[in-house]
Amino acid sequence: MSSQNVSVKGKVLTVGQVAKRTGVAASALRFYESRGLISSWRNDGGQRRYSREVLRRVSIIKTAQRLGIKLSDIADALATLPRSRTPTPSDWQQLSRHWQQHLDRRIEKLTLLRDELDGCIGCGCLSLEVCPLQNPDDVAADAGPGPIMFSDDWDEEQAE
Ligand code: FES
Repeated sequence: MSSQNVSVKGKVLTVGQVAKRTGVAASALRFYESRGLISSWRNDGGQRRYSREVLRRVSIIKTAQRLGIKLSDIADALATLPRSRTPTPSDWQQLSRHWQQHLDRRIEKLTLLRDELDGCIGCGCLSLEVCPLQNPDDVAADAGPGPIMFSDDWDEEQAE
């Protein structure tokens, strides 16, 4: 069967069919594959072929990217799903619950940043000492004034 005869209703898809169905460029699909988010195999002619489950995986990747989730985090999440079957609605619920928490934390940080920006409007000092946007977490504040040399064990030392 030639690749032209493989329909989307069939079990095997060409890279062009996946691109058309998902709206993701073939180059992006190859990139996802290089990062382990999706997988394919080669036919006798050396062309990529995908199983239908890839459509749902790509949908998940697109949605997660729209939420601002890093590709490496998406890959980690997808690695928890079986490769042999299409991700189910229950799989999606599990992933989306996890990503909702991630989004909540981001929103919290951005809200804080927005509130701190209020103090900077009309200021322009960009001072390392007083501007919250220049030194948002002020991680060295407890070590006293002046330059601080960070060691590789900084976090552990601070926790003691
Ligand atoms: S620019 Fe002055 S406090 Fe941020």
